[in-house]
Amino acid sequence: IFLLAHQQTDMDEGSIRKRKESYNGSTGRSVNGRTKDKGPEKATVLQKEVGLFSGVCLIVGTMIGSGIFISPKAVLLYSGAVGPCLSIWATCGVLSTIGALCYVELGTMITKSGGEYPYFMEAFGSVVAYLYSWTTVMVLKPSSFAIITLSFAEYASAPFYPGCTPPLVVTKCLSAAAIFLIIIVNCLSVKLASYVQNFFTAAKLLIIFVIVGAGIFMLAQGKTETLSNAFEGPSPSVGAVGLAFYNGLWAYDGWNQLNFITEELKDPYRNLPLAIMIGIPLVTVCYVMVNIAYFTVMTPTELLLSPAVAVTFGDRVLYPMSWIVPLFVVFSTFGSANGSCFTAGRLAYVAGREGHMVKILSYVSLRRCTPSPALIFNGFLGIFYIIPADINTLINYFSFAQWAFYGMAALALIVMRFTRKEMHRPIKVPIVIPGLMLVVSCYLVLAPIIEEPRMEHLYCTIFIFSGLLLYYPFIYRKAEWARRLMRPITMHLQLLMEVVPSEQAEW
Ligand code: ARG
Repeated sequence: IFLLAHQQTDMDEGSIRKRKESYNGSTGRSVNGRTKDKGPEKATVLQKEVGLFSGVCLIVGTMIGSGIFISPKAVLLYSGAVGPCLSIWATCGVLSTIGALCYVELGTMITKSGGEYPYFMEAFGSVVAYLYSWTTVMVLKPSSFAIITLSFAEYASAPFYPGCTPPLVVTKCLSAAAIFLIIIVNCLSVKLASYVQNFFTAAKLLIIFVIVGAGIFMLAQGKTETLSNAFEGPSPSVGAVGLAFYNGLWAYDGWNQLNFITEELKDPYRNLPLAIMIGIPLVTVCYVMVNIAYFTVMTPTELLLSPAVAVTFGDRVLYPMSWIVPLFVVFSTFGSANGSCFTAGRLAYVAGREGHMVKILSYVSLRRCTPSPALIFNGFLGIFYIIPADINTLINYFSFAQWAFYGMAALALIVMRFTRKEMHRPIKVPIVIPGLMLVVSCYLVLAPIIEEPRMEHLYCTIFIFSGLLLYYPFIYRKAEWARRLMRPITMHLQLLMEVVPSEQAEW
């Protein structure tokens, strides 16, 4: 192996196949489990396996996580009254739709996987795209993975500790176990991961329909006291509204997920826009209705005092069956984590392919056609972020940097209208839409910094730009010693994981 390591950069598909074939020779099985007489073999690339239904499930299933069951409290706290609170929920839906419209144009114009990454590459060049992938792969994706699995663990362990909060070590171990399980599922097969996603999306829609149904029943019985005079009370400060938006938008976050897997979509020109235009309005309607349902049985004060809104709702309305709410919140968070992980793997994969991350991340499993190194890497980081987790600080970090990137994607769209006039745009949105998105994201990024500058903002910015320290020697200068160091490591990992460079055409 070491001799080989000095001769070759990395092993291609043929050599791994040959080695494994000689190893598996006695069983007469070819390495990817397909025998020669079964017709032509699939190329080792990520297959186009995601249809419209799975696309919608990926969006809806990632957006609906734990937010709608927990955040209503924070949105109400910062918005002050029922009316403004419901308006903020609806506005967050509109904002997500506006953002997603920009992504419809971007995603059908540049049909590459990796979310914002290929758009930044095209509009602003390599350095910006690199900084985006650096921040997102190293922090944003794994930390959101950690946050979601931590809420999963909280709900999953609660029934075993009636009357008290579960010990921290239990929740942490449980969320690490969830990460482990999700990574295994995603590494095994893209189809399996989509089935898991579809199943959990159906489950979370079911519980939402139950809550909404119960709410409508209550309304029909005349329980509208909390909803009348909804706008009475002092108006909230600008800063407080910003915080309310942050919490609401976290519940909506995930609306851009499909753009991370464009290359795996069947007929992306049709399915990308359709899935976005079905998924996001659906979630918006669900969220507003769920909030109305909460207010039919709780006064604002009661809602603020409840530790988990949806559970309190279940206790009051669904009594003998009230246990279904926490159970379905567990399903919901698990599904959202699965969707997040699915897309996170694709970004690391694309960045690796482009040479912005170590090459091994862009390799695809020979047997299973999944980007297993990228997925495993994301899982490792996710577990790392669980260790010191304090959920709130993580969410704060997340929103600040995430919205900077959403704004830049809108800017990329505007810039490319001028610099890439010739590109084919199957769907062209009015320019005011990205304009609006840019203004909103500037507000969301700057308002909290101006109102109350915190060290976290500084750390976050320093972290983003610290990526440049690696960019210069390893990507720009392509240091020879680093390559020589990586070669044997890459090869060992290749043999261990049975992964090969994707056969897809390079950029
Ligand atoms: N909206 C989800 C929730 O309410 C969280 C989505 C996390 N974002 C992401 N890109 N994975 O829990």
